[in-house]
Amino acid sequence: MAIREIIEVPDPLLKQVSKPVETFDDELKQLVEDMFETMYDAPGIGLAAIQVGVPLRVLVIDLQPDDPDAEPEVCNHGGHEHTHQPTKKEPRVFINPEILDPSEETKAYNEGCLSVPDIFAEVDRPATCRVRWQDLEGNTHEEDMDDLMAVCIQHEMDHLNGIVFIDHLSRLKRNMAMKKLEKLRRAA
Ligand code: NI
Repeated sequence: MAIREIIEVPDPLLKQVSKPVETFDDELKQLVEDMFETMYDAPGIGLAAIQVGVPLRVLVIDLQPDDPDAEPEVCNHGGHEHTHQPTKKEPRVFINPEILDPSEETKAYNEGCLSVPDIFAEVDRPATCRVRWQDLEGNTHEEDMDDLMAVCIQHEMDHLNGIVFIDHLSRLKRNMAMKKLEKLRRAA
């Protein structure tokens, strides 16, 4: 396993349309393992292969819900002692995903992206959708998605089509986001 470098806007690779996976081999398994390691390290809840420079239709997602059975962790970052509920890993892989039946009802969510670090903006998307995808063995699955999963999979699907979330914003808001990002980079 290896942590791969996450490419960031305005890298032109992020505008590339990714190609379908045709071979379900060890190389694909290695890519997926590396993508999980890279995503957990970042940390993030979703990653498309193109974000590590590989133009294949592969997504990994882990919404990492709180684990109610785990002991809360006490920590004191931010200067005061408080507890965190540890998260439970729920890794999911989507190969050659397709969005079916997006709902007419939309929902706004304050999105972020590992390729647009530290920038957040509200994006409107269909509130629910059905997703068809293949697993690492090439078997096909279908499932209805809602809430954060629907947001996340649509955001990641966009990456496979060369779209990042700030592309959904007005030109004015997108320019503001890019200026803020440049400012943050200069300060870092
Ligand atoms: Ni993203």
